[in-house]
Amino acid sequence: MEPQEIPQPEIINQVIDQIYRLGAVRAALELQLWEKIAAGEDTSAKLAAAEGWDPAGTKVLLDAIYGLGLLKSVGEKYSLVPESSYYLLPSQPAYQGFMLQNELGWDGYGQLAESIRSCKRPIHYDDTKGSVVGLWISAYSASWAYPERFLAVSEKLWQSLGITARDGLRVLDLACGPAPRSMALARQHPGVQLTWLDWEEVLHTAHKTAAGLGISNQITILPGDLQETDLGSDRFDLAYLGNVTHFFNREENIRLFRRVHNALVKGGKIIVHSAVRREGEGAALDALWLYATTAHGGAHDFAAYHSMLEDAGFTQIIEIDKGPVRALKP
Ligand SMILES: C[S@@+](CC[C@H](N)C(=O)[O-])C[C@H]1O[C@@H](n2cnc3c(N)ncnc32)[C@H](O)[C@@H]1O
Repeated sequence: MEPQEIPQPEIINQVIDQIYRLGAVRAALELQLWEKIAAGEDTSAKLAAAEGWDPAGTKVLLDAIYGLGLLKSVGEKYSLVPESSYYLLPSQPAYQGFMLQNELGWDGYGQLAESIRSCKRPIHYDDTKGSVVGLWISAYSASWAYPERFLAVSEKLWQSLGITARDGLRVLDLACGPAPRSMALARQHPGVQLTWLDWEEVLHTAHKTAAGLGISNQITILPGDLQETDLGSDRFDLAYLGNVTHFFNREENIRLFRRVHNALVKGGKIIVHSAVRREGEGAALDALWLYATTAHGGAHDFAAYHSMLEDAGFTQIIEIDKGPVRALKP
């Protein structure tokens, strides 16, 4: 091969940079760097002296975190940027450190290759099991702390789906998490009644948020596994499944949709809304995440949801702006 034909290792170098970035963030989280800077150990020398850390290591880590934009620096002094103040201080309600540390360690034992070799998944935790409830609570820290930020987007979603809040509207929000979508409906009309299904700890956290918004009297909780919990029959006008159906395969979703169908009244609607990317660079990363963290999950396109919903007995199945899918129980 002629020297000019040898490709530059640009992509390899970018990957190495990413690995160093992740290493820096992981070390900073483990050392509680942001917390210590906020408490006044705001120069490399002060930090190293107070904590007994290696001065050279402390300095290079601080500079790497500054380079990532997660610290400011003036002269010798470092200080927090808004993102680190809100999301990286354990005392803050929107702290994301627990979730980040978990994600940074997701392939910590090099299990992805072994998982592919042995056809054994998920790798080290399963997004659909109650054991990861703490992770969900941490992942949604911003929603619990600042629910208003998510309500306006949710209101637009209902508009696009042609669904309006009204007296007596009974809504089942399955795997509701912080439930911004259904909360937006409840806020629009005091006669809207929500039933939330998720793991108990998630529901209690969400309930506190609802209390802060003055709508807790409109909510009933149904704690448990969404694949097992009795949903009853003919009792809801609307069912919302947000960002959960990608954790399951076709068979699991059809079984779930049939139970939802049974729980809806005649003329009731189901909304299936998954934000998993299906195109572009992000799609492959989402697919890898679902491979690693679920037993059978993956991205499903509209044709796949159409077929699953039809098999479960729904009609008038439409997709809105390549986003949520709406269907009707005839
Ligand atoms: C990605 S979040 C979606 C939250 C919300 N629906 C949204 O769209 O923002 C997934 C939620 O599903 C819940 N979940 C996952 N598997 C579950 C299961 N088997 N039973 C009950 N809830 C489950 C999690 O606890 C989490 O709150």
